Amino acid sequence: MSLSILFDDATVSDIMTAWPTKPALHKPPEDSLVRNLVNANLVNSYLDTGTAPADQLIVIRDGAALHSRAYSTDGYLDPGKVAKWRGRGYTVQLRNLHRWCPAVHAICSAIQNETGYGAYATGFVTPAGGQGLHHHWDQNMGFVYQLAGRKTWQIWEPGVEEPHREQFASNTSPGSDVLDRMKSMRPDYEFDLEPGQILVLPRGWMHNPHARDQGQDSVHVTFVARERTGYWIAGKLAQAALASASLRRVIPPASIVDPDAFAGQIAEARDLLTQWLAGADLSALAADLLQTARTEPNVDYISHAPSLIGHQQSAR
Ligand SMILES: [Fe+2]
Repeated sequence: MSLSILFDDATVSDIMTAWPTKPALHKPPEDSLVRNLVNANLVNSYLDTGTAPADQLIVIRDGAALHSRAYSTDGYLDPGKVAKWRGRGYTVQLRNLHRWCPAVHAICSAIQNETGYGAYATGFVTPAGGQGLHHHWDQNMGFVYQLAGRKTWQIWEPGVEEPHREQFASNTSPGSDVLDRMKSMRPDYEFDLEPGQILVLPRGWMHNPHARDQGQDSVHVTFVARERTGYWIAGKLAQAALASASLRRVIPPASIVDPDAFAGQIAEARDLLTQWLAGADLSALAADLLQTARTEPNVDYISHAPSLIGHQQSAR
């Protein structure tokens, strides 16, 4: 079980060798277990029974999220309150499904093991006629698996190059300025995602997902793959350089606070790092980093600060 639970063999092979850069629609293979493991009943049952952890939910309409008090009682999710907000057109976002839903955890772990990319998942339940999040883009690839109802996805080509981590996020300047300009343009793609379809949505593509024209509640789960980059490797190499005693030596305060002296220290640290890297055992580093890539918990994860009405949410 891995990417092949979502895609046919030819598509998996393509994804592994040339990570997608354009949106596309797919369907899981006919014999995929995913329909048994992840479906609308599973997602709805968390909300109908109150067994989802309240602090992992976001209840949001038109970009404005409720405080968790509005849908919990004594700290636990309150199914009656959730039903009330859903009846009022609020979308429920179930974050970190891989942390508390064993089936989703298994799929995400398998994808991470296969690709070396971090993987996590988020569920969305949007009432017919509603919209939770407005125009935004995400910093990582999403595989959007539609489980029930339909959702409309208007999608625009990336307005910034290689958005990554906090760089050019769509909810902070300067990315948000780009987003404002792009919103007036016609979308490059528009899909009505049907149950059983998977939308491959690469990072940086602005989207406006909604169920405004739909007569049925929309339920989907997005599997997010956090791509590895040269920047990720560079960070890990800098961490590995802790093995260098020269780099661990203390720099006296006078050489920190004096700009000229500090520039010299920076140059020295750069040279020491370069020397250390030049002598490093790349095979051993590769083995260590591969193990890390396949197992490390999510490092870019969206924080879970209390959400409030009017607070702009990150997307995934
Ligand atoms: Fe998104």
